[in-house]
Amino acid sequence: MSQCQSRVTIKQNQSLCNTALIMQEQADLLLYNITQLATCAAADGVKRGTQHADVGLIYDAAVAIRNGIIVGVGKSAEITQSYRATQTIDCTQHAVIPGFVDCHTHTVFGGDRVHEFEMRIAGATYMEIMAAGGGIVSTMHHTRTADEQALFASAKARLDEMLAFGSTTVEIKTGYGLDTATELKILRVIERLAQEHPCTIVPTFLGAHTVPPEFKANPADYVTLVIEEMLPQVADWYAGSYFAEQGIPIFCDVFCEDHAFTPEQSWHVLAAGQAHGLQPKIHVDQFNAMYGVEMAIEIGCVSADHLDVTREPAIRKLAQSDTICVPLPAVNFNLGHAEFADARTMIDAGCAVALATDLNPGSAPCYGMPLVMATACRYQRLLPSEVLTTSTINAAYAVGLGDRVGSIEIGKQADLLILKQADYRHASYFFGGNPIMQIIQHGKLITA
Ligand code: NIG
Ligand code: FE
Repeated sequence: MSQCQSRVTIKQNQSLCNTALIMQEQADLLLYNITQLATCAAADGVKRGTQHADVGLIYDAAVAIRNGIIVGVGKSAEITQSYRATQTIDCTQHAVIPGFVDCHTHTVFGGDRVHEFEMRIAGATYMEIMAAGGGIVSTMHHTRTADEQALFASAKARLDEMLAFGSTTVEIKTGYGLDTATELKILRVIERLAQEHPCTIVPTFLGAHTVPPEFKANPADYVTLVIEEMLPQVADWYAGSYFAEQGIPIFCDVFCEDHAFTPEQSWHVLAAGQAHGLQPKIHVDQFNAMYGVEMAIEIGCVSADHLDVTREPAIRKLAQSDTICVPLPAVNFNLGHAEFADARTMIDAGCAVALATDLNPGSAPCYGMPLVMATACRYQRLLPSEVLTTSTINAAYAVGLGDRVGSIEIGKQADLLILKQADYRHASYFFGGNPIMQIIQHGKLITA
């Protein structure tokens, strides 16, 4: 993880309290003299509308951590009186923010699509490449033939990069197997990543990513396979998995689009997923609006992702629903599109919005949330405050972990980023580099 260069000074067992008589609680780690602490606290749950701009700033702040959990947050003077700690970090001239939650990724895949990158530079569109049998299907072939260890090793290397750019929680979808055995192989890789990598991982089953070639003549039969064969096995696997043990939910996603699945097929897959305990999510309105948004709201999707062509009145309906809008601007950037999802109108209409990389080998070979945030500021006119809450607390709600990660509040998992700069807005102002000086994941200092 070469991009994140740790320059913090960690002191051991240093007393920060002048008043010797005060009874102090013991903590493992204490960050103090934090110039700006952006807690992203959300007392009312997911942020909507004007709440996105409230990053819960505390100046001259401190955070105390014990057993991986945040136990004290407040003014530095108060917290340093109340806690002594095994390790302390002086954060003078640094901002501290929550670890990013990347709520939409396809991190596990075989091969790459660098040849398609060149085809697109030469003028081919993403949809033309997909219609010609490339795109997702090309990655499917590489993923089917890759052995499990190789898939794990390549995904782990990607996760290292993502963590170096501040993503401490990452959702990972299947969807490059498109047959039962390979979809389950990907789920096992996702589980092993969760067990062996510092990032908190959330699994999503995306068997309905596209129709594989062997079902091209009968797409309906593939939908039946997803519903009748894959979903029951996925649900069985989840029940005995590390995720169920940890209380981490599993989601079911579907790509609702031309050359993928109709809103009606998507409905059947998501409803079957719900019957098996998988919460619904959807890729929708990326290229064509097909009333998938209305369907997503009706079935109760936790999030509706992409939304590039979503306009009124669908935006108003999203604002009145519990479905979180997840624009994915790294896709537009990567595909060289001038148009972006209208996240500004979504926020102004009162929607709840979250951002993500959509890391995948085709539409978004993008590791880091800082680039996503920088892009959303410039092309979607979101403020640095808004891109921070959309990338942390709201993204945590988009993966069902809003009560566990995404903000710096007492009782939450201690996932924090010490920035190189004193002003949190620099995380999206300068771009192309890494704004992070030190990552803390579940209370542990991540070393570069
Ligand atoms: O979110 N749009 C559908 N799925 C992915 C792309 C996957 C790929 O191109 O491999 C996405 O953009
Ligand atoms: Fe995606």
